[in-house]
Amino acid sequence: MYAKRLAVCLGAVAALLAAGGVQAAWRDGGEVYEKVCRYCHEANVGPVLKGRNLPPEYIQRVVRMGNRAMPAFRPTEIDDATLADVARRVSTGPVLTRE
Ligand code: HEC
Repeated sequence: MYAKRLAVCLGAVAALLAAGGVQAAWRDGGEVYEKVCRYCHEANVGPVLKGRNLPPEYIQRVVRMGNRAMPAFRPTEIDDATLADVARRVSTGPVLTRE
């Protein structure tokens, strides 16, 4: 019985996460960049990141630690693998020019 209740419970948590504002499972780092980072980093809230060849290790550290107005993101918000993908894309990606 315990196992069944645990399964129901985990299902509820998964549903909550899926419905909640903070997404737990991302399609890839590109989605994270589009939905989270770009909001600040291409709107003059934070510095432009793309096209600067920032080292991926540095990007990952800033995202985990935060820095003044830059919020820190926990592994429950952006998992390690997805964060590595974000960092890779940001590091090597071209500058987006949108008029
Ligand atoms: C709420 C706005 C906001 C969001 C969302 C945000 N950032 Fe930032 N970020 C900032 C600000 C503001 C700074 C500048 C912090 C400072 O130096 O005081 C910053 C700084 C950084 C830096 C350091 C840049 C440099 O020039 O050294 C990196 C790297 C970075 N952010 C990556 C990211 C990534 C990747 C994401 C998405 C996961 C993200 N940020 C989401 C606001 C944001």
